[in-house]
Amino acid sequence: MPVTTCIFDAYGTLFDVAAAARRAAGEPGREAFAEHWPSIAEAWRLKQLQYSWLRAITGEHTSFWQVTRDALDWALEAQGMEADAELRERLLQLYWELEAYPEVPDMLCALKEAGFATAILSNGSPDMLEGAVSSAGLSGHLDDCLSVEAVGVFKPHASVYDLVGKRFGCDRSDVLFVSSNGWDVAAAAGYGFRTVWVNRAGDPVDRLPARPDAVLRDLTAIPDMAAR
Ligand code: LAC
Repeated sequence: MPVTTCIFDAYGTLFDVAAAARRAAGEPGREAFAEHWPSIAEAWRLKQLQYSWLRAITGEHTSFWQVTRDALDWALEAQGMEADAELRERLLQLYWELEAYPEVPDMLCALKEAGFATAILSNGSPDMLEGAVSSAGLSGHLDDCLSVEAVGVFKPHASVYDLVGKRFGCDRSDVLFVSSNGWDVAAAAGYGFRTVWVNRAGDPVDRLPARPDAVLRDLTAIPDMAAR
């Protein structure tokens, strides 16, 4: 049975989270950062996710924007670059205008033309998501942007996945959930969504209770998978 509703994780799935550091590294006067940017970007992302999980477990919720800033501060200090306040501000500014992966606009357009409901379901705060969606020119391709701020706890708490059924009035099995985060897709599969893991890096599958229904290298085949 085909699904009715296609739901996307935002950061790392539709938007390239490394784009902020990559762009800053290419700017004049940033030679020291250019040398280390991949490891700083990796630590930034890893800490951002770890802080979100830890805050969900301890019940100390804050906005994803705060978590993103805290994680960047850790990553810059780990590289001995915490004194560069201008770099910090630039990286944070660029996080509001991350590039979408190249196949995203056509893929979302094909889903809309085929009549699927489409939305983001993200840890991102509503204002961060709006910034990223509009700077990537995706506003017309999405029915909604669902943020964890509606429930005050980060993924993979089940109350976040509940937001989809509440918004679209669909059953769990009517939803195709797409994420590049192995832990997110594992939780969504356990929740009862149909799932696709977008595994651009060719990583091993996460050893968690549920596994994704399908694994893709990018998002191009999503409209075909949704129609199956
Ligand atoms: C999100 C993070 C997990 O967009 O990437 O929810």
